[in-house]
Amino acid sequence: MNMLESSVGRKLVMSVTGLSMIAFVLVHLLGNTTLFYGPDGINAYAEALHRFGALVWAFRLLLLTVLLLHVFYGIQLTLENRAAKPRAYAIKSSRATTLAGRSMVWSGLLIGGFIFFHLLHFTLQLINPELAAGRHFDSLGRPDVFMMVVLSFRKMPVSLLYLGALAALGLHLMHSLQGAVQTLGLNNERTLPKVMKAGVLAAILIFLGYAAFPITVFTGLLR
Ligand code: HEM
Repeated sequence: MNMLESSVGRKLVMSVTGLSMIAFVLVHLLGNTTLFYGPDGINAYAEALHRFGALVWAFRLLLLTVLLLHVFYGIQLTLENRAAKPRAYAIKSSRATTLAGRSMVWSGLLIGGFIFFHLLHFTLQLINPELAAGRHFDSLGRPDVFMMVVLSFRKMPVSLLYLGALAALGLHLMHSLQGAVQTLGLNNERTLPKVMKAGVLAAILIFLGYAAFPITVFTGLLR
């Protein structure tokens, strides 16, 4: 049997793509903390990243492929599970019984929608073109990413939208971190409770880390 025809093979693809995206989410979070150093932080960081030129586009394409694989197999596996005989549900897995577990596909689709919006917002800068970093430059002539992000999050609907999407991301990660470790076989009965706790804690920390940006801007702490 072809590896991708087996549900184990496809779950493996889900784990590897999911963990790669988590790595990106962590690096992106770290990169975003340069916002707290003002324009000299994030504008310098963005300029340094963009110096990689074509490599940036190669990385974006790779990330997009990883995301599409994850979404494709995620939807396919969910539809197959739903179509399976009800007997399948007799095996109680935490994925079927916790809120985060049951809502994986929905939180996943919300995150997909958010990523689409986010790329239009900060990468292509089409949502609030009047704030686009490509149109405003700081005193050193760098695209003013700091101004774009801060003035965007001062708008209540934008901040709320980001917080909602981050809650969906937190919910998705709360379950998937433990699931990925399990699929990769890095887990056993004894370590399961600890891995589950660590997954939930990591999801909460990622949520709080990202939520800090809209919250500090909206409350005026970051200006
Ligand atoms: C409040 C939180 C966030 C802030 C302030 C933020 C900020 C940014 C900015 C400024 C860019 C444009 C980078 C550039 O082209 O110079 C960007 C790109 C991006 N962000 Fe975020 N982001 C946030 C949350 C997220 C989350 C939660 C995800 C994933 C689930 C994400 C995924 C991406 C991706 C995939 C890109 C495109 C990368 C690229 O342009 O190469 N972001 N973000």
